[in-house]
Amino acid sequence: MTSALALPGNRHVVLIGLMGAGKTSIGRILAKRLKATFTDADTEIEKAAGLTIAEIFRMHGEQAFRDGERRIIARLLDAPPGVLATGGGAFMDAGTRALIRERGTSIWLRADVETLYRRTRQRTGRPLLNNEDPMGTLERLAQMRYPIYAEADITIDTGAEKPRQTADRIIEELTAMTKQLGATRATA
Ligand code: S3P
Repeated sequence: MTSALALPGNRHVVLIGLMGAGKTSIGRILAKRLKATFTDADTEIEKAAGLTIAEIFRMHGEQAFRDGERRIIARLLDAPPGVLATGGGAFMDAGTRALIRERGTSIWLRADVETLYRRTRQRTGRPLLNNEDPMGTLERLAQMRYPIYAEADITIDTGAEKPRQTADRIIEELTAMTKQLGATRATA
């Protein structure tokens, strides 16, 4: 069951942003608060493939991962609305971006590269950062992706605050959006 209060237009709430932005941890909290389902696209890709993301990259290559990612996200966006966390590259695909725009409210969790580096450096499950220079990789990805992420419906800066506080701010934005939609409908 989803909450009518803050899923604007009864559409999915889709979290986007670079690795380490907090999409999964914030998404879980958000879903609980909204009494909505939470789905993590990366987990669904792993389930469907029966492999971890690192294994998919290693055995089949990044392109195969991207193809699977596009298909799985399309399927998830076909399901009843809830909170959906996507992998950092998902919104870069024009088709996926168009689908998210059609069926969801996109939220970019923006963070500076130092913060992302700090949050990702303990984990080894991210093949794109498994190299000599993960900080440089994050910088390059930020440069390439941030102009596209900026097309999201809502941008939230995540800094030193706790995921709970970020979730609170997102709920405020979603509630305002829901009210605005209601007001627009009432005057139409
Ligand atoms: C990727 C981000 C990862 C995962 C894959 C590729 C990317 O997800 O989908 O390793 O291209 O940025 P997270 O952003 O959840 O770490």
